[in-house]
Amino acid sequence: MEKKKIIIAIDGFSSTGKSTIAKHLAAELNYLYVDTGAMYRAITYYAMQQNLVGKEFLATETLIKDLQHITLEFVYNSELQFSEMCLNGVNVEREIRSIEVSKLVSKVSAISEVRKKLVEQQQAMGVQKGLVMDGRDIGTVVFPEAELKLFMTASPEKRAARRYKELLDKGHKVNYDEVLENVQQRDLIDSTREDSPLIKAKDAVEFDNSDMGLKEQFERVYGLALLRISEE
Ligand code: DC
Repeated sequence: MEKKKIIIAIDGFSSTGKSTIAKHLAAELNYLYVDTGAMYRAITYYAMQQNLVGKEFLATETLIKDLQHITLEFVYNSELQFSEMCLNGVNVEREIRSIEVSKLVSKVSAISEVRKKLVEQQQAMGVQKGLVMDGRDIGTVVFPEAELKLFMTASPEKRAARRYKELLDKGHKVNYDEVLENVQQRDLIDSTREDSPLIKAKDAVEFDNSDMGLKEQFERVYGLALLRISEE
């Protein structure tokens, strides 16, 4: 008999390694992986291109009106074995990872209409289950009935160090203090916004991975996933 498929929701602060764990898990289970942060980043990048958001301003009403003209799509890159974000048909995977987008994304993500549009798309991706999705509100808002919920944390300094290395490896020019400040700023905005703040779902399993290696983390998470699948 074929095993029942489940939904795995992974939430947590920025740069806690959510996406690394989520990608591994999806590959091992042969599930779909969705990085919802990429969707919020793509809308932010659109707003930056249209001059609708900056350090000191946000043209909320215009951006809300423009939402109907924004199409987001994940397109699978078989060479990289990774789905890349396309905004209105253009691959923006590299652009959305920049520190400039990181600095503005929490502002744009706090707009309820933006969240509504993206949550609807995310829920549609889970109809068939067999999904690992990471973000900030997956276990609380997008899939409150998810069979497995994980909540990842780590100290801001550890997270900033990881992000800093990641950005340098990808050829972005940044300094560590700037990255740390961004991590702390996003933590604050993401967890205090009115609509769908980042909070741990009551039934989520918490992982502080400040001092936990990837292998150990993955083994624990994978074990939990197999247990939940066998219970279905
Ligand atoms: O996962 P990430 O760091 O790429 O996410 C970028 C930002 O997007 C994050 O700071 C807050 C927002 N976000 C959100 O509000 N809800 C989600 N489900 C995913 C991301």
